[in-house]
Amino acid sequence: MTKQTILTGLRANNDLTIGNYFGAILPMVDMAKTKADDYQINLFVPDLHSFTTPIDHNQLHSQTWNNLRIFVAAGLPLDHPDIHLYRQSYISAHSELTWILDCLTGVGEMGRMTEYKDKAAKLHEDRISVGLFNYPVLMAADILLYNATFVPVGDDQTQHLEFTRDIAGRFNNRFGDIFTIPKSVKEQHVFFGNDQGLRIKDLHDPSKKMSKSDESGKGVIFLSDDPQVSAKKIMGATTDDKANIQFDRDNQPGISNLLEILALLTGRNLQEVVAEWKGGDRYGDFKKTVAKEMVLFLTDFQQKQSSINDAAIQKRLESSESKLTITAKETLLRAQKAVGLR
Ligand code: TRP
Repeated sequence: MTKQTILTGLRANNDLTIGNYFGAILPMVDMAKTKADDYQINLFVPDLHSFTTPIDHNQLHSQTWNNLRIFVAAGLPLDHPDIHLYRQSYISAHSELTWILDCLTGVGEMGRMTEYKDKAAKLHEDRISVGLFNYPVLMAADILLYNATFVPVGDDQTQHLEFTRDIAGRFNNRFGDIFTIPKSVKEQHVFFGNDQGLRIKDLHDPSKKMSKSDESGKGVIFLSDDPQVSAKKIMGATTDDKANIQFDRDNQPGISNLLEILALLTGRNLQEVVAEWKGGDRYGDFKKTVAKEMVLFLTDFQQKQSSINDAAIQKRLESSESKLTITAKETLLRAQKAVGLR
């Protein structure tokens, strides 16, 4: 019996933060490792999605590679026969199926997508691309080509997943049983376990999420930061004047965030870390400990990243891309036949 497929896209971006690492990359790598015996895992870099908003094209290729190395440094195995790693643009069926689905998608439904509205609102009208508008259609093609059932995505992407289910359902109703419809968002949550609310906050303003697009960058630690700079950022983190270490997200968001970061850095559970520090009044000592662990973590991570063997990644990409092209072309052919192209 063939295995069901779990599929997700790893967004290419040069300056990933420790929030991205602990909140998305590490859980995804762990998921791949624990589920690969029972499922086929498709992980890909959606490089065609990378310029739906304006970018510097001189950077795109190296960003894709940087991203791949980060996943490998986070522990993604390259030699598991059922963990596939590939680039969207290397399998042309993504683009071909997108066109077919484009012609069956309404302008109205795309215009209602929240991510589109948010991103478009930040751009001058002339810079809003058609690609940004139909981003969800390409995403639907990414998923449907491989008959994927489980698609772990963040909250900001669930609307796109719902659209994928919609378009697949409509296509099947009209043309016969062509696509596998991925599980609903609710079923996905049950399968992957609910998000543990793991959201590292900005160090400077702990009321908001740590975000790579924050303008000042003062409260953000990037995976590429000089470890000494990261230590300074921790020492400068906003706390409070209560002189009492406690885990209380509402009333002491800064201290709570640091407790959470310390737990993640040391791989211990939060309760244990809280128990160790609870009631302490010396924020300086506490911060020094967090800063020290941050330096250790970044030094080790950057060392791992620079010792990654690109040839091994290249080999994995090529073998996954040639194998998955076969599946993708089979699905594409079914769709082409259905709409009368073949
Ligand atoms: N849009 C996703 C994100 O921003 C990335 C992505 C592209 C994706 N295609 C996908 C995720 C298909 C899951 C399935 O994170």
